[in-house]
Amino acid sequence: MALWGGRFSSGPDAAFKQFNDSLPFDYQMAEQDIIGSIAWAGALQQVDVLTGNEHQELVNALQQLQSEVEENPTAVATSGFEDIHSYVEAKLIGKVGDLAKKLHTGRSRNDQVATDFRLWSRQSAEQILTAIGSLKAAFIAVAERELGTILPGYTHLQRAQPVLFSHWCMAYVEMLERDESRLNDAIARLNVCPLGCGALAGTAYPIDRQALASTLGFTEASRNSLDSVSDRDFVVELLSCASISMIHLSRFAEDLIFYNSGEAGFIELSDSVTSGSSLMPQKKNPDALELIRGKTGRVFGAFSAMMMTLKALPLAYNKDMQEDKEGLFDAMPTWLACIHMAQACLNGLKVNSERTLLAARGGHANATELADYLVAKGIPFREGHHIVGELVQVAIAKQKNLEQLPIEEFKAVCDAIEEDVYPVLEIDACIAARQAIGGTSLPQVSDAIKTAKKKRQIT
Ligand code: ARG
Repeated sequence: MALWGGRFSSGPDAAFKQFNDSLPFDYQMAEQDIIGSIAWAGALQQVDVLTGNEHQELVNALQQLQSEVEENPTAVATSGFEDIHSYVEAKLIGKVGDLAKKLHTGRSRNDQVATDFRLWSRQSAEQILTAIGSLKAAFIAVAERELGTILPGYTHLQRAQPVLFSHWCMAYVEMLERDESRLNDAIARLNVCPLGCGALAGTAYPIDRQALASTLGFTEASRNSLDSVSDRDFVVELLSCASISMIHLSRFAEDLIFYNSGEAGFIELSDSVTSGSSLMPQKKNPDALELIRGKTGRVFGAFSAMMMTLKALPLAYNKDMQEDKEGLFDAMPTWLACIHMAQACLNGLKVNSERTLLAARGGHANATELADYLVAKGIPFREGHHIVGELVQVAIAKQKNLEQLPIEEFKAVCDAIEEDVYPVLEIDACIAARQAIGGTSLPQVSDAIKTAKKKRQIT
């Protein structure tokens, strides 16, 4: 039975019912709807709408329902009720009869759904925080292991300057820390309780909304009832956090897909996160990474869809808002799965440090060092830059690296260059020179690792 039949003389058209029902997806909030209902029963007892016994009977029945739902959640989804709120109420009537009909006193599905959805969102954001934490630890572990590995750093996908492989790892730790901090901010704002706001105007019962909020683990009761039933900022914020974090994960995926290519050959991915080709027996494809890259689009889609749905909605609740759930229900587990998969890729990662070193030595990635050397010899940087450009042309013509050019070749372009140029052009020197904060020198990268470990309390 629907929750609203009295005013209607005929039932809904079958196609409309299918179009209108949200149970096929909001069944995922069964746990939250029951927890919220238990808290609401407590609030109703406080204001003498329920006696102590009635309250107890309702709580027992709700707890029993909770374990039934846990046992078979998909049965809830296909049970044909309009939404999760209708389902819980109907099941409760089945258990305690007319008493169950008192539970909706002073409550609306509008404050109820807003509460359920916040509870669901908080739980799923907390799962993400844990997963980000262990992904960070995985990056830190690879960073510690690969402190001796030199990687070509790229701009425009052209070899630019050498960096430590660990510096690359720690770049992603930085991104993940921002993801964490953004998500914590979002959690702080979503953690307010709309229950007790009724349909839009507030509840007519003298409910202690602060006490109700803390029963449900919220930091406070929401302040304005009109806003409370129609605010979905928290959904937009979570989807924004997810999208930004997926940008990071997709860049990680893309970096590794490239490093894993036959052309680069910098890394080998574990068999456990790759797949083969049905036709080409030699293939070992980086599917896990490609899927992370691919699923990024899907999360962005949910983010923009939510903004479109909310745009220009008049206050307060409108049925458009039922469209808030599927995107988040899809995006949060997708985000979580991508974090887990990124970690699986890192855990089995083998780095071929000979190949990375060879690549870092090629591509004239030490040209900046030569320009700096000329600066030290009193030549203005811009002029030095031009001289080095000419020397790179010479090196390309001779198919040599800069450090392989004999001193005469250097002198033919710039007389200021002496034998002391060679140690400067050594790749280790290029790395060691980056001593300022944030640079790729060993002490800087070790410091970054130490700081990140301290934050995570890893010893
Ligand atoms: N299924 C609805 C939703 O997800 C619940 C709220 C219904 N409220 C209403 N006034 N029809 O938004």
